Amino acid sequence: MPEQSAARRTVLKGAALAGAGVALTACSTETNSGYGSPAVPTAPVELGDAADVPVGGARLYRENKLLVSCPAEGQYKAFSAQCTHAGCVLDKIEDGEGNCPCHRSRFDVTTGKVIQGPATDPLPAVPVKAVGGKLIAG
Ligand code: FES
Repeated sequence: MPEQSAARRTVLKGAALAGAGVALTACSTETNSGYGSPAVPTAPVELGDAADVPVGGARLYRENKLLVSCPAEGQYKAFSAQCTHAGCVLDKIEDGEGNCPCHRSRFDVTTGKVIQGPATDPLPAVPVKAVGGKLIAG
């Protein structure tokens, strides 16, 4: 069946070329943030009640890809919750650290700094304020 063989060769050749493209993309990355920049809001986003963020703690807003911490009463800090390693969204906060479920990077929730790699870049800060008891980020 020569037609099937030709078709199979075409498929295999295509797969080989696609594989080469993937390899070139992976090798051309000079930092470990090859997926692009972490998500940050391009317009103000209301996150809900400021009181939902515990004083001395933090809360994830995974649907908005944001992390908000409250180091002291009335003070809020927000960061992108998208990991700077390969773009996964942080999944939980433990002991003041945001955890990435993909490769276990951990970030300080009050500074965005990397505590544990493989990520090397901090989480980008996002402006945040409490207005009328509601958190507005971006
Ligand atoms: S995506 Fe790799 S550690 Fe977060």
